[in-house]
Amino acid sequence: MCTKQAVSRMFGLMEIRDAKLEDATAICEVLRQSVTNLCIGDHKNDPAILGAWLGNKTPETLKSWIEDSSSQMLVATEGDEVLAVGAIMDAGEITLNYVLPSARMRGISKKMVMALEARAKERGAKTCTLNSTGTARRFYLAMGYAEQEPKTGMFGAIVYPMLKTL
Ligand SMILES: CC(C)(COP(=O)(O)OP(=O)(O)OC[C@H]1O[C@@H](n2cnc3c(N)ncnc32)[C@H](O)[C@@H]1OP(=O)(O)O)[C@@H](O)C(=O)NCCC(=O)NCCS
Repeated sequence: MCTKQAVSRMFGLMEIRDAKLEDATAICEVLRQSVTNLCIGDHKNDPAILGAWLGNKTPETLKSWIEDSSSQMLVATEGDEVLAVGAIMDAGEITLNYVLPSARMRGISKKMVMALEARAKERGAKTCTLNSTGTARRFYLAMGYAEQEPKTGMFGAIVYPMLKTL
């Protein structure tokens, strides 16, 4: 039988939807693969930075973030596979935007950021803010974000604070 999941995987139909508690393990895998393999320019394989960055990427922590009523977490899926994850606080801060390395450069993160911005607008936010990695810096600049002075982020890597008026 052709399930909705099988059809969307067969035809590469990507959808963005709210994250569910049962997505927590798959989201963790996206985060861990994305940080480890795509953000090497940021953590430089420094065990202290990488360890801190991955330290809170556990299914338990993810479940608590999914349940957090002051933020929203979205996933990009194809069939039953989670390809990317994004999260935004009601005040407009994007706190997560990560894609599986194998799903990179397919326009998924662009659609994810647009969906997060739409959620922020619905919640009354006038701006979106975020701390970009060096890896994603040019991506956000191309999406209309303006950058401020770089600083050392919470995991020890340099981050690029950015803001966009919605
Ligand atoms: C940067 C990243 C988020 C982009 O995700 P992606 O799904 O590959 O991006 P998309 O396919 O949606 O690309 C959208 C546009 O950005 C461009 N783009 C993507 N990654 C880029 C990069 N690193 N530098 C410059 N441009 C980039 C694409 O060419 C595309 O341009 P187009 O609209 O003119 O065709 C992702 O590749 C990545 O590196 N993630 C690592 C985790 C990370 O740093 N997340 C951000 C935390 S703040």
